[in-house]
Amino acid sequence: MARIPVKLVSWDEIVEWSRGLAELIQKSGWNPDIIVAVSRGGFVPARLLCDFLDVTDLLAVQSQHWVEAAKAAEKAILKYPYQIDAEGKRVLVVDDIVDTGDTIELAREFIKRSWKPAEVRTATLQWISSVAKLKPDYYYLEVKEWTWFQYPWTRLEDVTQFIRRILKEDKRAREGLTRESLEKLFEEWYGVRVSDLGFYWDLAIEKLSRDELIEVSGGIIRPLKGS
Ligand code: ADE
Repeated sequence: MARIPVKLVSWDEIVEWSRGLAELIQKSGWNPDIIVAVSRGGFVPARLLCDFLDVTDLLAVQSQHWVEAAKAAEKAILKYPYQIDAEGKRVLVVDDIVDTGDTIELAREFIKRSWKPAEVRTATLQWISSVAKLKPDYYYLEVKEWTWFQYPWTRLEDVTQFIRRILKEDKRAREGLTRESLEKLFEEWYGVRVSDLGFYWDLAIEKLSRDELIEVSGGIIRPLKGS
């Protein structure tokens, strides 16, 4: 069993799931005038929904997670709370996933309060029902066991973070590792085959090295201070 359950999501799955989500919205008999992506995770699904639902107006709001002083918990805030006049419009807020539900709730409440549209609904590809405090109006897949969905648009960022975490937390990495042993630890930690990551694996190693978080020499990868 992996320590952190990760599922690699393919571009084909994203298109299939977005198509399925669009169908649910269509079948409900409701059609949005404006789609709002929750940046950055909602961008690709929102753009695909525009295509499937024939919507031309696509906006975004950006959420940011903020660690409150002296608190471990993160708070979601909106980074650029701009105004528009959405009077009489039906607005669909789109994100990739509802995990805790903080982000989409924040976006929905902001839009309701500040843009004053006729109606706001929410749609996501996935909904983690066991942890989320809210259920989106539309979702394509219900997830019961918490998993990290490694979406294709954050592959480099995620793989880099995943490797950093091993180097920080796994005692076996302290003195340095061969490439093969790092690959083995990665598979053990995340349950993902390095061969399924294609060029992203090398890009992540190059990035860590460029950022001076690791040193690669003589075939050995060593964590550096600050990593
Ligand atoms: N963003 C927030 N929660 C997530 C999850 N479980 N998987 C992927 N992206 C997320």
